[in-house]
Amino acid sequence: MRCDVFTLFPQAFDWYLSQVHIQAATRLGHEFQLANYRDHTPLTHLQVDDTPYGGGAGMVLRIDVVCAALEAVFGGDATKLRRSRRVVELTPKGRQLDDALAEDLAKGDLVLLCGRYEGIDERVTELVSDRVSIGPYVLSGGEIAAMAVLDAVTRKLPGAVSNPASVVSESHASELAGGTEYPQYTRPAEFRGWTVPEVLLSGHHAEIDRWRARQVGKG
Ligand code: 6GU
Repeated sequence: MRCDVFTLFPQAFDWYLSQVHIQAATRLGHEFQLANYRDHTPLTHLQVDDTPYGGGAGMVLRIDVVCAALEAVFGGDATKLRRSRRVVELTPKGRQLDDALAEDLAKGDLVLLCGRYEGIDERVTELVSDRVSIGPYVLSGGEIAAMAVLDAVTRKLPGAVSNPASVVSESHASELAGGTEYPQYTRPAEFRGWTVPEVLLSGHHAEIDRWRARQVGKG
């Protein structure tokens, strides 16, 4: 998979992209690229945003700037990009990210468009294949949402997580039919009088499996 993230704040991704699972995915041949809209703006004074038509608070990221950035990185016509890959606008107005969408987005190349200010000019709908939100609340920009999408998607790439069983058994994976993961414990077996379920210390793997199956979905 190739994933290109468009943002006004590429440095916001530095820590995230240095994480081991991203590095592991890169070694498997997946590619993560950042592009700064500002580096490609056709406007003077590195302008990227403007006041909203009709008035109102804040600034809106300009559609000509978004198009120019996409065309600088990919060449060709920005409106045709979504024919070859998912082009995702991060917006609180989007479809809420879930496990199934993450799995779907992991199947091919991906472009993530982060907005700031009051978002991107609505005509971005001419360019995108998807509008995605990470939940029913408003963030100041798309960057944190883009990292959440990247994280969920990267975990779905075959071989990107060292223990594939941990992906399958994880919370919300479709294999659990929407249920949640069983509880996990580690040493010490007792701390401040707080104990670990006896069965987990028993070494009886069949019983442990049954216990865990019973816990799934209890939340
Ligand atoms: Cl994708 N963007 C912003 N700005 N806020 C959000 C969001 C996205 N998802 C939930 N809240």
